[in-house]
Amino acid sequence: MSTSPTPTLTPPTATPSLDPEPNLVHALDAAQYTDAARFEREQERIFRRTWQFAGHVSQLERPGDYFALELHGRSLFCVKDRAGIVRAFYNACRHRAHQLVEGSGHARALVCPYHAWTYELDGRLRAAPGAGRTPGFDRSRICLIPVRSEIVGGFVFVNLDPDAAPMEAWYPGIADALAEYVPHPERLRAACTREVVERCNWKVSVENYSECYHCRLNHPTFSNGVVEADSYHIIPHGRVLRHVTKSVPVESLTYRVDPDSHPHALDYTSWFLWPTFSFQIYPGNVLNTYIWHALDHRTTRVTRQWYAAEGVEPDLIEALAEQDLRTTVAEDVRLVESVQRGLESGGYRPAPLVIDPAGGVNSEHSIRALYEWLGEAMA
Ligand code: FES
Ligand SMILES: [Fe+2]
Repeated sequence: MSTSPTPTLTPPTATPSLDPEPNLVHALDAAQYTDAARFEREQERIFRRTWQFAGHVSQLERPGDYFALELHGRSLFCVKDRAGIVRAFYNACRHRAHQLVEGSGHARALVCPYHAWTYELDGRLRAAPGAGRTPGFDRSRICLIPVRSEIVGGFVFVNLDPDAAPMEAWYPGIADALAEYVPHPERLRAACTREVVERCNWKVSVENYSECYHCRLNHPTFSNGVVEADSYHIIPHGRVLRHVTKSVPVESLTYRVDPDSHPHALDYTSWFLWPTFSFQIYPGNVLNTYIWHALDHRTTRVTRQWYAAEGVEPDLIEALAEQDLRTTVAEDVRLVESVQRGLESGGYRPAPLVIDPAGGVNSEHSIRALYEWLGEAMA
């Protein structure tokens, strides 16, 4: 007589508690990052109502210089007018909507390629061929539709909301703070650009950027050869997350820095401007920027631009950009894509954030600030 094998049962594990812990701030639920309809609402309520990076004044040196940009499904362009004012407009002719410019270039006037309506650089309609024969046609009443724009330290930002508060209300003191680390940032030029596409929701990437709890474990080059990770702290104010820390000792830096060249030569700092832009200053006062482009609910393009003053060796900036891409950026891509897969696993249940009332590198109070800003925007 044969005996059947004794069935083996998986021993019970601890019963997971799925209830939120009262009085603690929990991570957001997965739907915040996986729901396409929610992303559409974010386009309307966040991206089209907040200040977005458009370009740098070095792209608009002479009156008539322009560049076009696509921003969250909207087609725009920036141009320097004859008075030297940088203006932004929707890239749509008032006649029958053909786009006025493509790419970047220089023009004495903005001539629409469709029927040659011609606009001054400040948006006023100068000429419309044949329209003089149309009774009542008043060209002085027609101009391009402007978009709000502001310049901070030479960086041009636009806001699709005509009623948006000025940047100073969102990011108090940002221009002066930036100038303290980089005198005359408006005189810099983008020396190189690096882009990566991350298969994750934009908030996963922004949250990852906004804490250094993960740095020691995941960013050996950044933590041992660029910054002193243990002294890293993040201060929310306005709609800014200000990151502050020291560089590693100058002899441990992965690149050459003259410690006497500037009072902040051995500091690292950044200003994350809600929702999708950051100014970063690497040791040696190297300014670089982070720009998140939310392409859809699970795809984000991250652009890194590295700026150099005249006289700075381009090779040094290029080497730093490349090191950053191969180490910190590549390490973050792996993290955020893994988080997105976890969120889409179907079994993620949010637990409390780690928040130290005293702040410090392991505290996620900065994530709590992002949640608050998100909640206010979407309410
Ligand atoms: S659409 Fe621009 S001139 Fe007709
Ligand atoms: Fe990171």
